[in-house]
Formats: sequence, C-alpha cells, structure tokens
Amino acid sequence: MNSHMADSNESTSNLFEAARTHNAWVDRDVSLDVLRELYDRLRWAPTSANSNPGRFVFVHSKAAKERLRPHLAPLNVEKTMAAPICVIVAADARFYDYLPQLFPARDMRSVFAGTPALADETATRNAILQGGYLIIAARSLGLDCGPMSGFSKEGIDREFFPDGRWKSNFLINLGYGDKEKLWPRNPRLNFDEACLVL
Ligand SMILES: Cc1cc2nc3c(=O)[nH]c(=O)nc-3n(C[C@H](O)[C@H](O)[C@H](O)COP(=O)(O)O)c2cc1C
Repeated sequence: MNSHMADSNESTSNLFEAARTHNAWVDRDVSLDVLRELYDRLRWAPTSANSNPGRFVFVHSKAAKERLRPHLAPLNVEKTMAAPICVIVAADARFYDYLPQLFPARDMRSVFAGTPALADETATRNAILQGGYLIIAARSLGLDCGPMSGFSKEGIDREFFPDGRWKSNFLINLGYGDKEKLWPRNPRLNFDEACLVL
C-alpha cells in the first residue's frame, strides 16, 4: 500500500469501516447551522442530468415528531422519537422544473416532462443516491445516522406531502449516537461474493 492510500484509508474510516448505524442517542441537539452545513456538503455529490430530485424534511420539533409516530413500524418508534432529528428523504416528482436553472446548457426539462416513466425512474434513483450522500456527509461532520425503511410510505406521504409532489423514500434518524448501545455488527460480503471484474 502506498502512503497516499494509507492516508486516505485513515481519513475515510470514519465514513465507512468505523461508522455504525445508531439506534440510541446521547442528549445533544443538532442545530440548524449544522443542518445547513450538512446540505451544503451533500448537494455537491452527483445526480443524473444534475437533476437534484432529493428533498429532505428535517423533522425536529416534538409536534412534528408526533406526526411521524403513527406511520412508523413498531420497532422504529422509540428510537425515532428519541433522535434529535428524523430526516424524511423524498423525491420531487416535478424535479425537472428546476432543470433550466440546474442544467442551463441544454433543454433537459422537456426530456423528462414529456416522459413520465423516465422522470419517475430518475427522481427515485437520484433521491435515494442523495439520501446515501446525506449519510456520508453527516458522518463527515461527526454526526451519526440510523436509516429506516420500516414505515408506511402512504401514511407519511398523506401526512407530510398531501399535494403529491414530494414522495417519501426512506427515513434517517440523525444525531450523536450512543456508542454504548450499538447492536452487534454484522459481516459484509467479500469481494468475490459481491463483485465481478470483466
Ligand atoms: C435503507 C435502509 C433501511 C433500513 N431500515 C431499517 C429499519 O426500518 N429499522 C432498523 O432498525 N434498521 C434499519 N436499517 C439499518 C440496517 O439494518 C443497518 O444499517 C445495517 O444492518 C448495517 O449496520 P451497521 O452500519 O451498524 O453495520 C436500515 C438501513 C438502511 C440503509
């Protein structure tokens, strides 16, 4: 391993190998300034046609948390109520309305506006990517995450996005994790199980 790789492995370990999924939180809030810094970081990661369809609802107040509660899978309720923030990662079905601003070199808006299936696939794929970028950006800021797909999408969409334009995809609890309460770590697939080199 050359020295460049050694350096980069050390600095990325907190983003990958050493980072964990958290289910319990220390008593420390996440400020609006930190949320702004988080978005400022994640927004530079790539999306197809620079579509940026990801939308992020930072559910913070107790009242807003209560709106989440009935739509969470039972095992996700307590930890979500205890987390400083729960992020709803959503996709904007009309993301293409921003393309004249986001991709001024070409008329990309009409490519998607006239092709609903392509627009839907693009919104979903890239919003999920941006949710993943959020996890890594949060870790780079010293925050911890607890992503969740155990919730009623219909329920959350009805409650938070009644006009139907934004569509929830997954949730991420966000805060400073309690390392004493981590669950045992599960293994990962090795290279030969997960990868092909052709
Ligand atoms: C998209 C997504 C959805 C998940 N949904 C849930 C969930 O609903 N409830 C839960 O307790 N954990 C959920 N998890 C947590 C995973 O089980 C956890 O990230 C994985 O086991 C890796 O744990 P580690 O990061 O500590 O190694 C989810 C993770 C992801 C990325």
